[in-house]
Order: sequence, then structure tokens, then C-alpha cells
Amino acid sequence: MALRNIRKDNDEILRKKSRRVDDVNDRIKTLAKDMLETMYAANGVGLAAPQVGILKRVIVVDVGEGPHAFINPEIVEKSGSCVDLEGCLSLPGRQGEVERPTKIKVNALNVNGEEFELEAEDFFARAICHEVDHLEGILFIDKLVKSEEK
Ligand code: NI
Repeated sequence: MALRNIRKDNDEILRKKSRRVDDVNDRIKTLAKDMLETMYAANGVGLAAPQVGILKRVIVVDVGEGPHAFINPEIVEKSGSCVDLEGCLSLPGRQGEVERPTKIKVNALNVNGEEFELEAEDFFARAICHEVDHLEGILFIDKLVKSEEK
């Protein structure tokens, strides 16, 4: 495992769309492990592959109940709505209020290439939605409920 460099601020790669993973091979497994290690080292709760310079649909999340890796994640159901503060490891020092669903169902592959479905609520759901946005080149600052105060 190895720490990867987190892309920040105006790095163009953060605005690009990531490609689906066709084959969950050893490189993808290593990427997911490295992303978790990088996320923990930065005290984050989620990280998406474009944030480490890889335009592939891989995200990792750990909101305190253990590590989760999602490959080709799709949010297949969402309900409820909640506005809360978010930050991003790629936008250090910035925070803002974003509206997210309170409950989601996500479909993805795990690091063994097996499909799974998971229900997430509240902060866990928020973290997954934030990371899935990264795969579309969307950052939380695009979705602020009110503009950032200077
Ligand atoms: Ni982020």
C-alpha cells in the first residue's frame, strides 16, 4: 500500500468525468487500498479516484463504521432531504451547506468484483453522494445552499 497525492483546488482532473471499471483487477484493488490509506492519513471520511489523479469510478468511504469501497457505484434509490455542512480533501479550508438525501440505496461492485447493494442513511449517505459526485466532476461547492461567506 502507498499514500497517493491528493489533487487540490483548481486541478483540472477534479472536473473530469471518470470511466467505468470493466475489470476489477489487482490494479483496481491496489488503488482502492491506497485510497483508503490516503483518506485515513488525511483524516477524511471519503475519497474518490479522480482526487488521486485516476479517472476511474472508484470511491472509498469510512464514516466510523469501517471501510467501504464502491466500484462503479450507482445510487438507485434516494429519499428525504437534509442540509448540512460538507468539506472535501481536495478543497482544504472550505466548508459549506449542501442538500443531500437522508436515505439512499447504492449498487456497486466490491474489490472482488462482486455486485452488492447497500442502504445508507444520514452522514454515511451524504458521504457516498459526495464521492459519487466526484466521479462526474462535481464538487460540493457547485451545490451550496447559500454562497460561501468570505
Ligand atoms: Ni470531496
